[in-house]
Amino acid sequence: MTPRILVLAGSLRAASLNKMLAREAATLARAAGAEVTLIDLKDFPLPIYDGDVEVADGLPANARKLKDLFIAHHGIIVACPEYNAGMTAVLKNVIDWVSRQHGDESGTVPYEGKVVGLCSAAGGQFAGIRSMEAARNVLMNLGCLVVPKRLGIARANQAFDEAGRLKDPQLVTGLDAVVKQVVQVAGALHA
Ligand SMILES: Cc1cc2nc3c(=O)[nH]c(=O)nc-3n(C[C@H](O)[C@H](O)[C@H](O)COP(=O)(O)O)c2cc1C
Repeated sequence: MTPRILVLAGSLRAASLNKMLAREAATLARAAGAEVTLIDLKDFPLPIYDGDVEVADGLPANARKLKDLFIAHHGIIVACPEYNAGMTAVLKNVIDWVSRQHGDESGTVPYEGKVVGLCSAAGGQFAGIRSMEAARNVLMNLGCLVVPKRLGIARANQAFDEAGRLKDPQLVTGLDAVVKQVVQVAGALHA
Protein backbone atom coordinates (compact mmCIF):
# COMPACT_ATOMS: atom_id res chain seq x y z
CA MET A 1 0.00 0.00 0.00
CA THR A 2 1.31 3.45 -0.89
CA PRO A 3 1.22 5.63 2.21
CA ARG A 4 -0.37 9.03 1.77
CA ILE A 5 1.62 11.75 3.54
CA LEU A 6 0.49 15.32 4.19
CA VAL A 7 3.30 17.88 4.54
CA LEU A 8 2.89 21.35 6.03
CA ALA A 9 4.80 24.15 7.76
CA GLY A 10 3.57 26.13 10.76
CA SER A 11 4.37 29.48 9.18
CA LEU A 12 2.42 31.79 6.89
CA ARG A 13 5.15 34.03 5.50
CA ALA A 14 6.13 33.62 1.86
CA ALA A 15 9.87 33.42 2.59
CA SER A 16 9.40 30.93 5.44
CA LEU A 17 12.40 28.68 6.09
CA ASN A 18 10.02 26.03 7.38
CA LYS A 19 8.11 26.10 4.08
CA MET A 20 11.46 25.41 2.39
CA LEU A 21 12.05 22.56 4.82
CA ALA A 22 8.55 21.21 4.16
CA ARG A 23 9.24 21.29 0.40
CA GLU A 24 12.46 19.34 0.95
CA ALA A 25 10.59 16.82 3.11
CA ALA A 26 7.88 16.45 0.44
CA THR A 27 10.51 15.72 -2.23
CA LEU A 28 12.17 13.12 0.00
CA ALA A 29 8.82 11.52 0.88
CA ARG A 30 7.97 11.13 -2.83
CA ALA A 31 11.39 9.55 -3.38
CA ALA A 32 10.65 7.17 -0.49
CA GLY A 33 7.54 5.95 -2.33
CA ALA A 34 4.80 7.99 -0.65
CA GLU A 35 1.91 9.81 -2.28
CA VAL A 36 2.47 13.35 -1.01
CA THR A 37 0.26 16.38 -0.54
CA LEU A 38 2.19 19.55 0.28
CA ILE A 39 -0.01 22.35 1.58
CA ASP A 40 0.58 25.99 2.49
CA LEU A 41 -1.42 27.12 5.54
CA LYS A 42 -1.67 30.55 3.91
CA ASP A 43 -4.22 28.92 1.58
CA PHE A 44 -6.38 27.97 4.60
CA PRO A 45 -6.88 31.20 6.57
CA LEU A 46 -8.66 30.62 9.88
CA PRO A 47 -9.82 32.91 12.69
CA ILE A 48 -8.22 32.36 16.08
CA TYR A 49 -10.28 29.63 17.72
CA ASP A 50 -13.28 31.14 19.48
CA GLY A 51 -15.89 28.87 21.05
CA ASP A 52 -18.60 31.46 20.44
CA VAL A 53 -17.84 31.46 16.69
CA GLU A 54 -17.99 27.66 16.70
CA VAL A 55 -21.36 27.61 18.51
CA ALA A 56 -22.82 30.28 16.21
CA ASP A 57 -21.43 29.14 12.84
CA GLY A 58 -19.90 25.67 13.30
CA LEU A 59 -16.47 24.89 11.92
CA PRO A 60 -15.11 27.38 9.36
CA ALA A 61 -14.92 25.94 5.83
CA ASN A 62 -11.10 25.89 5.96
CA ALA A 63 -11.11 23.96 9.25
CA ARG A 64 -13.35 21.34 7.58
CA LYS A 65 -11.03 21.22 4.56
CA LEU A 66 -7.99 20.73 6.80
CA LYS A 67 -9.85 18.10 8.84
CA ASP A 68 -10.66 16.21 5.62
CA LEU A 69 -7.02 16.47 4.49
CA PHE A 70 -5.77 15.10 7.83
CA ILE A 71 -8.26 12.23 7.63
CA ALA A 72 -7.33 11.39 4.02
CA HIS A 73 -3.65 10.86 4.85
CA HIS A 74 -1.84 8.14 6.80
CA GLY A 75 0.98 10.37 7.99
CA ILE A 76 1.79 14.04 8.48
CA ILE A 77 5.15 15.76 8.36
CA VAL A 78 5.21 19.10 10.13
CA ALA A 79 7.95 21.72 9.86
CA CYS A 80 7.60 23.55 13.18
CA PRO A 81 8.95 27.10 13.46
CA GLU A 82 9.93 28.07 17.01
CA TYR A 83 8.42 31.20 18.52
CA ASN A 84 9.38 32.06 22.09
CA ALA A 85 10.37 28.49 22.90
CA GLY A 86 7.09 27.04 21.69
CA MET A 87 5.16 26.27 18.52
CA THR A 88 3.61 29.07 16.48
CA ALA A 89 0.08 30.28 17.12
CA VAL A 90 -0.71 29.42 13.48
CA LEU A 91 0.16 25.77 13.98
CA LYS A 92 -1.58 25.45 17.35
CA ASN A 93 -4.67 27.18 15.95
CA VAL A 94 -4.87 24.70 13.07
CA ILE A 95 -4.42 21.78 15.48
CA ASP A 96 -7.16 23.20 17.72
CA TRP A 97 -9.73 23.81 14.93
CA VAL A 98 -9.05 20.37 13.40
CA SER A 99 -9.56 18.78 16.84
CA ARG A 100 -13.16 20.00 17.10
CA GLN A 101 -16.08 17.63 16.66
CA HIS A 102 -17.88 17.99 13.32
CA GLY A 103 -21.37 16.44 13.14
CA ASP A 104 -21.10 12.91 14.51
CA GLU A 105 -17.37 12.76 13.84
CA SER A 106 -15.21 12.91 16.97
CA GLY A 107 -12.53 15.57 17.10
CA THR A 108 -9.75 13.03 17.46
CA VAL A 109 -10.58 11.17 14.20
CA PRO A 110 -8.08 13.25 12.16
CA TYR A 111 -5.32 12.37 14.63
CA GLU A 112 -5.79 8.81 15.92
CA GLY A 113 -3.11 6.47 14.58
CA LYS A 114 -1.68 9.18 12.34
CA VAL A 115 2.07 8.79 11.93
CA VAL A 116 3.76 12.16 12.46
CA GLY A 117 7.30 13.33 11.72
CA LEU A 118 8.63 16.60 13.05
CA CYS A 119 11.36 18.92 11.79
CA SER A 120 12.20 22.54 12.46
CA ALA A 121 14.15 25.39 10.91
CA ALA A 122 14.80 27.82 13.75
CA GLY A 123 16.54 31.16 13.92
CA GLY A 124 18.12 30.43 17.28
CA GLN A 125 20.70 28.07 18.71
CA PHE A 126 18.32 25.41 20.08
CA ALA A 127 17.35 24.12 16.61
CA GLY A 128 13.61 24.30 17.29
CA ILE A 129 13.78 21.46 19.81
CA ARG A 130 11.37 23.26 22.15
CA SER A 131 8.88 23.85 19.36
CA MET A 132 9.05 20.20 18.28
CA GLU A 133 8.63 19.06 21.92
CA ALA A 134 5.54 21.22 22.27
CA ALA A 135 4.09 19.87 19.01
CA ARG A 136 4.96 16.30 20.01
CA ASN A 137 3.12 16.62 23.34
CA VAL A 138 0.02 18.10 21.78
CA LEU A 139 -0.13 15.67 18.86
CA MET A 140 0.54 12.57 20.97
CA ASN A 141 -2.18 13.67 23.36
CA LEU A 142 -4.55 13.69 20.36
CA GLY A 143 -3.59 10.11 19.45
CA CYS A 144 -0.85 10.64 16.85
CA LEU A 145 2.14 8.31 16.73
CA VAL A 146 5.06 10.73 16.60
CA VAL A 147 8.15 8.94 15.27
CA PRO A 148 11.31 9.17 17.39
CA LYS A 149 13.52 10.61 14.68
CA ARG A 150 13.37 14.37 14.18
CA LEU A 151 15.50 17.06 12.59
CA GLY A 152 16.15 20.47 14.09
CA ILE A 153 18.21 23.10 12.27
CA ALA A 154 19.82 25.86 14.35
CA ARG A 155 20.49 29.30 12.82
CA ALA A 156 18.50 28.16 9.84
CA ASN A 157 18.77 31.45 7.97
CA GLN A 158 22.16 30.10 6.82
CA ALA A 159 20.89 26.63 5.91
CA PHE A 160 19.22 27.11 2.50
CA ASP A 161 20.59 28.21 -0.85
CA GLU A 162 18.90 30.73 -3.15
CA ALA A 163 16.73 28.00 -4.66
CA GLY A 164 15.48 27.10 -1.17
CA ARG A 165 17.41 23.83 -1.05
CA LEU A 166 19.28 22.59 2.04
CA LYS A 167 22.98 23.30 1.58
CA ASP A 168 24.40 20.73 4.01
CA PRO A 169 24.10 17.10 2.82
CA GLN A 170 24.15 15.96 6.46
CA LEU A 171 20.94 17.90 7.07
CA VAL A 172 19.38 16.27 3.99
CA THR A 173 20.37 12.87 5.41
CA GLY A 174 18.86 13.81 8.78
CA LEU A 175 15.61 14.96 7.17
CA ASP A 176 15.50 11.85 5.01
CA ALA A 177 15.74 9.69 8.15
CA VAL A 178 12.66 11.39 9.61
CA VAL A 179 10.75 11.12 6.34
CA LYS A 180 11.66 7.47 5.77
CA GLN A 181 10.56 6.57 9.30
CA VAL A 182 7.17 8.22 8.72
CA VAL A 183 6.70 6.54 5.33
CA GLN A 184 7.77 3.11 6.63
CA VAL A 185 5.65 3.19 9.79
CA ALA A 186 2.61 4.64 7.97
CA GLY A 187 2.96 2.00 5.23
CA ALA A 188 3.28 -0.86 7.73
CA LEU A 189 0.47 0.37 9.98
CA HIS A 190 -2.03 0.89 7.20
CA ALA A 191 -1.06 -2.09 5.00
C1 LIG B 1 7.74 36.05 17.72
C2 LIG B 1 8.98 35.29 17.39
C3 LIG B 1 9.59 34.54 18.36
C4 LIG B 1 10.73 33.78 18.05
N1 LIG B 1 11.25 32.96 19.01
C5 LIG B 1 12.27 32.11 18.66
C6 LIG B 1 12.72 31.10 19.59
O1 LIG B 1 12.25 30.99 20.70
N2 LIG B 1 13.70 30.27 19.19
C7 LIG B 1 14.25 30.34 17.93
O2 LIG B 1 15.14 29.55 17.61
N3 LIG B 1 13.84 31.29 17.04
C8 LIG B 1 12.86 32.15 17.37
N4 LIG B 1 12.40 33.06 16.46
C9 LIG B 1 13.02 33.13 15.13
C10 LIG B 1 12.34 32.16 14.17
O3 LIG B 1 12.77 30.83 14.45
C11 LIG B 1 12.70 32.53 12.74
O4 LIG B 1 12.17 33.80 12.46
C12 LIG B 1 12.21 31.50 11.75
O5 LIG B 1 12.74 31.83 10.48
C13 LIG B 1 10.68 31.49 11.68
O6 LIG B 1 10.23 30.47 10.85
P1 LIG B 1 9.81 30.72 9.31
O7 LIG B 1 11.06 31.18 8.60
O8 LIG B 1 9.35 29.39 8.86
O9 LIG B 1 8.72 31.75 9.26
C14 LIG B 1 11.29 33.85 16.75
C15 LIG B 1 10.66 34.65 15.78
C16 LIG B 1 9.53 35.35 16.09
C17 LIG B 1 8.85 36.17 15.01
